[in-house]
Amino acid sequence: MPLSPILERQTTYPFVRLAEARARVEGRGVRVIDFGTGDPREPTDPLIRQALVDGLRDRMGYPAAVGLPELREAIAAWASRRFGAELDPATEVIPTLGSKEAIFSFALATVDSTGTRDTVVFTDPGYPVYERGALFAHAHPVALPLREENGFLPDLDSIDDETWSRIAVFWVNYPNNPTGAVAPLSFYESLAALAREHGFVLASDEAYTELWFDRPPASALQLDDRRNLVVFNTLSKRSSMTGYRSGFAAGDPGLVGALKAFRPTVGTAPQEFVQRAAAVAWGDEEHVERTREVYRRRRSLFLSLFDRKGLRVAGSEATMYLWLEVPEAEGSEAFAERLLEHGVLVAPGSYLGAAGEGYARMALVPTDEECTAAAEILEAVL
Ligand SMILES: Cc1ncc(COP(=O)(O)O)c(C=O)c1O
Repeated sequence: MPLSPILERQTTYPFVRLAEARARVEGRGVRVIDFGTGDPREPTDPLIRQALVDGLRDRMGYPAAVGLPELREAIAAWASRRFGAELDPATEVIPTLGSKEAIFSFALATVDSTGTRDTVVFTDPGYPVYERGALFAHAHPVALPLREENGFLPDLDSIDDETWSRIAVFWVNYPNNPTGAVAPLSFYESLAALAREHGFVLASDEAYTELWFDRPPASALQLDDRRNLVVFNTLSKRSSMTGYRSGFAAGDPGLVGALKAFRPTVGTAPQEFVQRAAAVAWGDEEHVERTREVYRRRRSLFLSLFDRKGLRVAGSEATMYLWLEVPEAEGSEAFAERLLEHGVLVAPGSYLGAAGEGYARMALVPTDEECTAAAEILEAVL
């Protein structure tokens, strides 16, 4: 049977591997508390759920890829309140089905794989979809390591002139999955200036801007000059709505226009009842503050536990993740395996890229009761 060689070359998606490991241990009768995947288990706010139900109609036709005007307006109003960014809902915003599919397919809409704009840059360790999207678009992928000594920001000086001139898309993701690092606005300013100078697209994946602890992180949408910039955001983490599939892309009208031209070929906007629920979600901050409080509570439980145990937390400025330094010489996979044997599932940092070796990622998504149980296990195991 013919299959794409790109598909055949791919390793199993990291979180599928984690689910397999979990099933193996559960098969032996061990209760597994799952800190592996960043899928929030908080209930979605009742106001949002009601808006979804109210959005049902007798007949639901194809949702146009440009999305409902009221959703685009709700997103623009949110970006204005949150970041002081004034976006034109007609030309600078387009809804997406969560952000994963839009991130994956972005290279298809931008890369010229047989010309001189054939390169996609992304950071390592990181969300695997930037690289996978680049490979399926026949682009040349370039991974930039995120090192702790650079605050988990990529070293832009490591890129040579030839590479700068070939970059089609440069992906950044702050607050960062998995390191929890936050980028200052000056980082976006420098990179956006380079994007304009060299003619590439700065693609900023901002899935975690709303999960912060002390200070709200910056967004690239705050830049005065948004030429060559596209920002992806999503309700998945902010509003615990992974199952709804609702996000957006916003930025340079030229890029949003390109997505309007590209996306009707690929599919549609989310179902209209989801879009109506999404408009309500972007309009409410109270449920987001409650969500932040939940992660704050769990984070402080584990920060004090790891502090007592001498396990260093290398990153946790924002996001739902703790980025743990695994004990010296043990290695990421062996450490995760050891915890899993006792029923605590974390992701080995190496699953998220070569530069993740030596670390493990803990997603603070289990319930408070599960977190307390896991803390007791870790108290004994570490
Ligand atoms: C960095 C990052 N970007 C994007 C996403 C995509 O989320 P969704 O497709 O649910 O919006 C995730 C999900 O885990 C993520 O970690």
